[in-house]
Amino acid sequence: SQVDIDASAYDAGDHESYMHKEMLEQPTTAQAVLRGRLDDRFGTAHLGGLHMDARDLRAVRRVKILGCGSAYYVGQMGAALIEELARIPADAEAASEFRYRDPVIEPDTLYVAVSQSGETIDTLLAVQEVRRKGGRCVGLVNVVGSAIARECDGGIYLHAGPEVAVASTKALTNMFLGFALLALQLGRVRDLSIADGKRLVAGLEKLPGQIEEILAGEADLVEVARDLAEARSLFFIGRVRGFPVAREGAQKFKEISYRHAEAYQTSELKHGPLALIDPEVPTVALVPRDELTERNIGALHEIDARKGPLVVVTHADVDLGEVGARRIDVPRNEPELDPILLTIPLQLLAYHAAQHLGHDIDKPRNLAKSVTVE
Ligand code: AGP
Repeated sequence: SQVDIDASAYDAGDHESYMHKEMLEQPTTAQAVLRGRLDDRFGTAHLGGLHMDARDLRAVRRVKILGCGSAYYVGQMGAALIEELARIPADAEAASEFRYRDPVIEPDTLYVAVSQSGETIDTLLAVQEVRRKGGRCVGLVNVVGSAIARECDGGIYLHAGPEVAVASTKALTNMFLGFALLALQLGRVRDLSIADGKRLVAGLEKLPGQIEEILAGEADLVEVARDLAEARSLFFIGRVRGFPVAREGAQKFKEISYRHAEAYQTSELKHGPLALIDPEVPTVALVPRDELTERNIGALHEIDARKGPLVVVTHADVDLGEVGARRIDVPRNEPELDPILLTIPLQLLAYHAAQHLGHDIDKPRNLAKSVTVE
């Protein structure tokens, strides 16, 4: 069973839906999660709420992130950031599966529960499983004083403000930023250099303005979204940093447009799903400027050759060559922070597709904001 949030204390103002309001709030809410937590001088982050000093942080040998749905996908983005910046093995797992496999809980693993509502039962029970077996679990939670926040040993509040729309946007952005802060702090007590730390602090400081820039281009995405809405089925593809973004993009599209959207690793297309590509099945591809750009463009050629319509989320300086595609350019930042910039246009695409189809955007069928009963 599920519950709906009481929206009466918070209104959508001039926006036609809460989701729209919440997407547009992101430049401000993104600042809120970073405020007071970045340290330019030492190129690090301060996260007092973790209740872990430098020794505790150094003792962490592995990170396991637990969340459901979109929180799980952002957890995958977070795991990649932690592994990259701190060089500690990190992964994310669906909290809804975790307890059923009688997981091994290790004392030197840091468990991180991630949840907007802080009330998702599967995530809460995963936290209880960890703590019952003596593991340390911290939370990345938006709702202050929620069940998951209370159950954890410490955490990072997301400060995104109330989120009413079932399709999460601003809370997810702040989850990503919360993971970036955690990765930075874990990295800087290890081998991440001060120069890299400063580079990332500067990148994080730039992000809210860049999110605003993407949102300002909303009108340009409406037609693309409408065309995607007409498809019976579509793919979202990305590699490494881009893959959890593809998963989140497909999830958002499914939730509110009710279209079948499937996320795939770009590299796996040729091992099966390429058989489905035809002029009726569009693909949204994530192609940031990174070490995989050329390989990604190779995959776009494969799709184009089969006349699959393509929408490519990329950077202005990426040359797609002969590939026939509609492109959405997002601003450049540090490559580690790309996932969040790539995610914002996918929110807008899902939103305008659902609006075109005339769906109830804030309360999609069969779903509720928070799933609090097993
Ligand atoms: C997000 O758009 C979804 N509505 C859903 O997957 C959600 O992220 C998930 O149910 C977890 O919710 P939580 O963050 O409140 O724990």
